[in-house]
Amino acid sequence: MEDEVSVDVLLKENRVFAPPKELIKNSNVKNWMNKHNIKTYDELLLKAKDIEWFWGEVSKDVVEWFKPYDKVLDWNLPWAKWFIGAKYNIVHDALDKHVENWRKNKIAYIFVGEPGDTRKLSFRDLYVEVNKLANALKGLGVRKGDKVGIYLPMIPELPISMLACAKIGAIHSVVFSGFSSKAFRERVNDAEAKVVITCDGFYRRGKIIHLKKQMDEALEWAPSVKSLIIYRRTGHEVQWNEARDHWWHEITAYQPNHCKTEVLDANDPLYLLYTSGTTGKPKGIIHAHGGYAVGTALTLKWVFDIKASDIWWCAADIGWVTGHSYIVYAPLILGATSIIYEGSPDYPKPDRWWSIIEKYGVTVFYTSPTAIRMHMRYGEGWAKRHDLNSIRLLGTVGEPINPEAWMWYYNNIGSERCQIMDTWWQTETGTFVIAPLPLISLKPGSVTKPLPGFEADVYNTKGEKVSQEGGDLIISKPWPAMLRGLYKNPKKYMNYYWNKYPNVYLAGDIARKDKDGYFWIQGRADDVLKVSGHRIGNSEVESALVSHKLVVEAVVIGKPHEVKGESIVAYVVLKEDVEASDNLRIELIEHVVKEIGKIVRPEELWFVKDVPKTRSGKIMRRVIRAVALNKSTGDISTLRNPEAVEEIRKAK
Ligand code: PRX
Repeated sequence: MEDEVSVDVLLKENRVFAPPKELIKNSNVKNWMNKHNIKTYDELLLKAKDIEWFWGEVSKDVVEWFKPYDKVLDWNLPWAKWFIGAKYNIVHDALDKHVENWRKNKIAYIFVGEPGDTRKLSFRDLYVEVNKLANALKGLGVRKGDKVGIYLPMIPELPISMLACAKIGAIHSVVFSGFSSKAFRERVNDAEAKVVITCDGFYRRGKIIHLKKQMDEALEWAPSVKSLIIYRRTGHEVQWNEARDHWWHEITAYQPNHCKTEVLDANDPLYLLYTSGTTGKPKGIIHAHGGYAVGTALTLKWVFDIKASDIWWCAADIGWVTGHSYIVYAPLILGATSIIYEGSPDYPKPDRWWSIIEKYGVTVFYTSPTAIRMHMRYGEGWAKRHDLNSIRLLGTVGEPINPEAWMWYYNNIGSERCQIMDTWWQTETGTFVIAPLPLISLKPGSVTKPLPGFEADVYNTKGEKVSQEGGDLIISKPWPAMLRGLYKNPKKYMNYYWNKYPNVYLAGDIARKDKDGYFWIQGRADDVLKVSGHRIGNSEVESALVSHKLVVEAVVIGKPHEVKGESIVAYVVLKEDVEASDNLRIELIEHVVKEIGKIVRPEELWFVKDVPKTRSGKIMRRVIRAVALNKSTGDISTLRNPEAVEEIRKAK
């Protein structure tokens, strides 16, 4: 039996998990290959090297242009235009086309609230809600190209808001509802949003999170924001600003059920999504309508093999790219039925997720290694109480999955019969880039190979392709859902992603390839942390710490953590004459939470007199990390203050 095989043995034997024949035979990708007379996976990869042919051909299967494109790709590094000349709007494929056919009464979203309330929205229901809100936004003066900020939890009004913006050609900028009001303010001001959408509150671990209150704080200084729309979710009392605030149910009440879908250029921007980089300031990633629609829909259709009969559950938050691409746009374009769950995975009991899978007959389930490890800790007994036989495919994303967690997921959630699609991608890529298809054998912990139509590789520092020894993960050809730049910062876009090696995109990850050409992602190469799969810049947390009046300097590193993947450890230098104390430690930790959000709460915070620096004054995070993790520091003779290394060593 599978679970009697130890993971060590499994890895030593280099055991692979071949896809069941039935899965291959009935898969969407195999069906497409048959139509194109392509016999094998390798032949498919080879054919798809002609990216213009490939993406042009597959686009026919997933999108309907208002006006067809003249040319598939215009590539002027680092700027790409896809499906040039096409007139398009992603909302046509996500909604409008479905209400014209049998799908109009199919369920698009099954919503499960944390307290147990549920709602089912058909494609037509969703269509009506989106159109009403789109008309209301127009009434508030929102026009094509305007930015709309969205600060909503996992309720159907979040996709409704995004689609309403896209419908009228406005650009949405969703901020994860777990971010603090200050983090929201920073993003909304950068985006210069005209209107913002939120709710009174939502449920998390049995408590109400007062989102409107956080929004009021955020908008204390947000000069561009003229109107705020508030959806009533919890019904608790909220403060009201007559000049600015509108209830969702009032402003949409008498709006018509139809609103014209704006005819856009396929390369017009669809959304901004802020993500962390190596500086203290988050970057606004831009995605565009046409290429993003083709890329997200095709990858979901092929990797997770989504069919009309599937119940798809991507258990991410829509506030991150995973939710944008694979809860909102791709499943809607494919006409799939998806689950949206508001609350915590283990509330009120650790089997909450498994009970939802059983109740709704979820067939394809996608989550993160952190969540899997958390459930592993609770023990498989919780999953065993439920009939999970409806599941036919599983997936993971966000961080490397350790083979132990992989096996646990395979045995206990997939009942030893479901393939696990480990998908590597980023906010910037918009879609999966390296991931299995139902045609390929799996190795636990490997993301397998770049998908057809994508070219990725591993480079050493000289820019040469390498395999086993590992190096920088790069993407060497443009792809349709790629980012179209950094908002307000074209120079940084070039320097950050396209400058290290000629002609290739630098992912910022370290990877290696094994003898079979399988990719193994090892983690970030730069100063970006992955805490519970959330991407956080070290310097963002450091900036938050030094914004406290008693702090002079701060350094943040990531430490391996059994469940979260990484946890945050901070070293803080206080102002002269300020006394270190446990109370101050707590105050500083809470200060970081207030500045950014709970997801960045430092696990450890140490007071030190100094931190190691180079002669030019640059903080040596590498050295600090090595000392903290009891690893060799290498040469520290170039440090200006080698004695500071001792300070870090003592702080344990
Ligand atoms: O380090 C990689 C890791 O997540 C980073 C991207 O983070 P973000 O933009 O927040 O998007 C996360 C969801 C797409 C990558 O640079 N990462 C993502 N997927 C995997 C992964 N690391 C290992 N295996 C994965 N499957």
